Amino acid sequence: MNKTENTQIKQNEEKAEERDLKELLRSRIKDIDSIPTIPAILRPLLHYMEQTVDQIEVQKIVELVSCDESITAQCLHMANSPLFGRTHEVDTVRGAVIALGVRKLRDILLSCLLVRLAPKERWAMDPVIFWQHSFGCALVSRQFARKINYHDPERAYLAGLLHDLGEVVNCIFLPEEFRATVEKACTEQLPFFEAEQATLGLTHCDSGKMLAQHWGLAEELTSVIFYHHDVEQAKLHPVLVAIVSLSDTLCRMRGLGYGFYEPKQTDFLDDPAWRILTREYPHMAEFDLARFTFELDEYTLQVRELVSSIFSKGS
Ligand SMILES: [Fe+2]
Ligand SMILES: [Fe+2]
Repeated sequence: MNKTENTQIKQNEEKAEERDLKELLRSRIKDIDSIPTIPAILRPLLHYMEQTVDQIEVQKIVELVSCDESITAQCLHMANSPLFGRTHEVDTVRGAVIALGVRKLRDILLSCLLVRLAPKERWAMDPVIFWQHSFGCALVSRQFARKINYHDPERAYLAGLLHDLGEVVNCIFLPEEFRATVEKACTEQLPFFEAEQATLGLTHCDSGKMLAQHWGLAEELTSVIFYHHDVEQAKLHPVLVAIVSLSDTLCRMRGLGYGFYEPKQTDFLDDPAWRILTREYPHMAEFDLARFTFELDEYTLQVRELVSSIFSKGS
């Protein structure tokens, strides 16, 4: 057998392995609803996240929170936290909605639920670091969206929060293989998607898309989840994908990454996401990126407090 034939056989075997892994993941994801850690209230909540604040009935949020005892306790705990500007003692869910406002309570509720998706012991990495990155990206995406006058900053928040959901899927459904990925990323200081491609033959973008479709998430969110590391391929909602992609990079550069140093430096002006936004918003040419980056340090503290507050309540 000559060298070319050998290489061909090896490539075919690798492709078959990759296909097998994707098939395996697909079949495991079908069981996602059977996992008791996924609360039934997540689906309706994601639906409310899609609506503007004035469309949401306070009573619906109260009912959602109240149907789960531990979520109720967690929301009350957070409503009474100085982190959320508590002014007086709150001891009912309705009181929490009034004190915090529908938007904040909705964000808190979603945060608590997402953190419960995978129990701590199933994580191949520190879940606190993962959620800090996700909440950081949500806040930065919303703030970035506001600064450039994107029409729906709340959508940007949700997209930022969910962009790496595929990491949770990999953790739950491919725990052993994902452990090897985390190790490779940390020791070789690689971005996760590169380490995943090398060890799993798929990335969190692939598994995140499967979950997004399985849950019936909105098309924009699915697009962000699938294309945030390959922005130029996003034919649908490229602006939202670009906002989240840049926010993700900013977070990884400003101490809200995955807890290890990623040496790759990005030239933002040369980033495809930046080019997409400049085309859409010509005023981006005057955007003071250095100043915005500096402002982000304020979020770092806020995000760390938020996540440790969720975890301290024993999610
Ligand atoms: Fe990612
Ligand atoms: Fe990310």
